[in-house]
Amino acid sequence: MRIDIITIFPQYLEPLRLSVIGKAIERGTVDLNVHDLRDFTHDRHRTVDDTPFGGGPGMVMKPEPWGEALDAALSNRQADQRPTLVLPTPSGQRFDQPMAAGLAATDWLIFACGRYEGIDARVVEHFREQVDVRELSIGDYVLAGGEAAVLVMAEATIRLLPGVLGNADSAPDDSFSPTREGAPLEGPIYTKPQVWRGLEVPAVLRSGDHGAVADWRRAQSVQRTSEQRPDLAQDDLG
Ligand code: ADE
Repeated sequence: MRIDIITIFPQYLEPLRLSVIGKAIERGTVDLNVHDLRDFTHDRHRTVDDTPFGGGPGMVMKPEPWGEALDAALSNRQADQRPTLVLPTPSGQRFDQPMAAGLAATDWLIFACGRYEGIDARVVEHFREQVDVRELSIGDYVLAGGEAAVLVMAEATIRLLPGVLGNADSAPDDSFSPTREGAPLEGPIYTKPQVWRGLEVPAVLRSGDHGAVADWRRAQSVQRTSEQRPDLAQDDLG
């Protein structure tokens, strides 16, 4: 998968080069290209923002650097390639696990990190012809810019690519995984030692009875979901 990220803070995306996501980049599973938006300005101050038409507070990102940066990212694409352009914004659709799976099924993502009040709306209008545009929010709160949201969305997406997780079996059991049995949230997990500071691992997990373990985990998952996320609990199914 190819991923382009356009930002005025390229260093903000460096954490993607750590851990399992970093290994996926090193291995070539992901071809990550981070671009500095200011490289596509032509004035001495490398200006990327200006005041809003119609008045109001804050600044708006100018269309020209975005146009050039996106033209450059799209420049060597093949005729049959149609990348997905992701715009992180608190006014977008809520990003969730099925969306991460949807993005992981594409072969080219371009993330456009807005700052200030956002990007001049004509940028999306113009590039809609060449790309599939997704305006996505990672939650109902406002960040200082799109970079932190892109870290979240890129990590959630890349870890779903084949071969990225060390244990290939671990993703299907994740909270929110569509192949997960029972309720959406994962319950408690334990490792050795059997007793730690007087606290014992539940006996069922040491019983060797796989059916009993699965039943216990399902019950824990249902309980946890109704406690932590009653909005996700399927109380009508009993
Ligand atoms: N930019 C600012 N806030 C955001 C959010 N909640 N999600 C995505 N991008 C954002």
